[in-house]
Amino acid sequence: MAGVHLDAFPPGESWSVRQFEDLMAQDGVIARGIVHGSELVSFILIQIAVDQAEILTLATAPNQRRNGLAGNLLHQVEAELVLRGTAVWLLDVAADNAPGLEFYARNGFSTDGRRHGYYQRVEGKRVDAILMSKPMARQGIT
Ligand SMILES: CC(C)(COP(=O)(O)OP(=O)(O)OC[C@H]1O[C@@H](n2cnc3c(N)ncnc32)[C@H](O)[C@@H]1OP(=O)(O)O)[C@@H](O)C(=O)NCCC(=O)NCCS
Repeated sequence: MAGVHLDAFPPGESWSVRQFEDLMAQDGVIARGIVHGSELVSFILIQIAVDQAEILTLATAPNQRRNGLAGNLLHQVEAELVLRGTAVWLLDVAADNAPGLEFYARNGFSTDGRRHGYYQRVEGKRVDAILMSKPMARQGIT
């Protein structure tokens, strides 16, 4: 996950192996991924609290993008989480992350608000966080 993350986020903003280990040790944190051969190509890291699942991070390897991997992963994980009683996705994404914003909008997320200057880039620039959510689909669940 740290390797895919390194290639996915701006310099200085990727998370180390140790940070992933610490997150994975926290209550309610789970990861799911898609593997091609022996290579992790897309993954999602989530923290579940009561009936909400917060997307901590989501990334696809650069040479595998726009093939539907992250969308499929989101869809599959949503089906799993609905069975576990989760009802809503939450996340925040940097306001300058056009592909990320487009990806979430395309997958049915809507914008709830904005945290001004929430992210600080390595060069010192501050970037707003866009808060998004989506109710999980409950079709077929009785
Ligand atoms: C966002 C991200 C996870 C999408 O992964 P992916 O496997 O390429 O996603 P999918 O193929 O399922 O979805 C692609 C859709 O997302 C949107 N999208 C993805 N990249 C885009 C880009 N560069 N510009 C505009 N829209 C983009 C489009 O709607 C696209 O559909 P299209 O290809 O039919 O136009 C990937 O671009 C990534 O790893 N980005 C860096 C990390 C990141 O920003 N993560 C999200 C914030 S936590």
